[in-house]
Amino acid sequence: MSKRPILIHPDPRLKKVSAPVPDLSDDLRRLADDMLETMYDAPGIGLAAPQVGVNARLIVLDCVKTDHDAPRPLIMFNPEIVASSDERNTYEEGCLSIPEQYADVTRPAEVTVRWIDRNGNESQEDFAGLWATCVQHEVDHLDGKLFIDYLTPLRRQLITRRMQKLKRDRARV
Ligand code: NI
Repeated sequence: MSKRPILIHPDPRLKKVSAPVPDLSDDLRRLADDMLETMYDAPGIGLAAPQVGVNARLIVLDCVKTDHDAPRPLIMFNPEIVASSDERNTYEEGCLSIPEQYADVTRPAEVTVRWIDRNGNESQEDFAGLWATCVQHEVDHLDGKLFIDYLTPLRRQLITRRMQKLKRDRARV
């Protein structure tokens, strides 16, 4: 496995709608494993393929937060949110493509997700709490949507300008 560079907003590749994965291949499994390594290293709790420059419908996540709980890495090809609760939940979200910027986002509190796992089998599971927020945030990435798209235009512009400055500063080093 190897780490991959994470794209920083603004980047046109983060705004694209990603294509469904037609068939699992060793390359795609390697990409998923690399994404998990990249996510854990960052550290983060979720990562979507467009964030490493691949516009394919693939996300990885692990929302186990405490060190004494066993990790639960999930790899989801073609994830689909098939049901959402009316009840809403607000979490302070961040994104590895928008480093060190956080904002409250309100989303359905519980979702049912269907996906293809690493072995090519169809899985379905209900998620609540942080897991529900995280999986929705990652699926949004596959539709070219970022958590800052839920904020006011003013707030979004402010964060975008900060990221432009961050990218300029990094390019200079
Ligand atoms: Ni994100």
